[in-house]
Amino acid sequence: MSSTKHSTVRTVKKAVIPAAGLGTRFLPATKAMPKEMLPIVDKPAIQYVVEEAAHAGMDDVLIITGRNKDNLINHFDSVPELEYTLQRKGDEGRLGKVHESSELAEVHFLRQGQPLGLGHAVGRARQHVGDESFAVLLGDDLIDARDPLLSRMIEVHDNEAATVVALMEVPPESIHLYGCAAVQPTEEDDVVRITALVEKPDAAEAPSNLAVIGRYVLRGEIFDIIDRLEPGRGGE
Ligand code: UTP
Repeated sequence: MSSTKHSTVRTVKKAVIPAAGLGTRFLPATKAMPKEMLPIVDKPAIQYVVEEAAHAGMDDVLIITGRNKDNLINHFDSVPELEYTLQRKGDEGRLGKVHESSELAEVHFLRQGQPLGLGHAVGRARQHVGDESFAVLLGDDLIDARDPLLSRMIEVHDNEAATVVALMEVPPESIHLYGCAAVQPTEEDDVVRITALVEKPDAAEAPSNLAVIGRYVLRGEIFDIIDRLEPGRGGE
């Protein structure tokens, strides 16, 4: 059955969150803790990302973990002794907050094995995801909870039967920090067709000021493509 804009059939049911990077740029904060567990206001970054996936209709989340996975696993589990103490004190507010993270979605964990890069981490999700399309969300980028970005990406995926990558306009002098997309317009104002990707180009050579950010809706075919890729810079 083909999906249309108004379809209620959920085509993308699973989210994959790679969280197995070494996080060297945040050392020493990430020496014993994954980068994704660093707190932003009152929650670890990864909780915002799981919330975003859940709000876009994905209740099955696979987190790819590296070393120091225990903090991550504990965060999405219940903590009976803590809950019991808060209950006894009648602290319903905090009890709700503690419950929240363990009730957002069905969260699964898989070890990456070796930190061989983002592509390898995504490739590890193959058995869990199967042939279906799925979303990849990186904890490096946090999206305002009011922004329907991911739902819109799924809509575009359904309408075009295409892989969808989130892009963000950045000042030209910052494009060298990002993956950059060469694009062609489409009939929709908020959608472009990507014709090429250039990793961290100099401003003078950048094909646009559109930077790749960490939200992807990928088709199952990506797994064969990842398998065929030769490792690039730094063995990743
Ligand atoms: P980064 O490129 O930011 O790498 O990864 P990193 O290792 O986390 O950080 P630095 O560069 O050492 O500071 C982008 C995303 O891919 C995940 C990271 O957890 C992050 O979400 N990743 C990266 C993996 O899951 N496995 C890897 O082998 C590498």
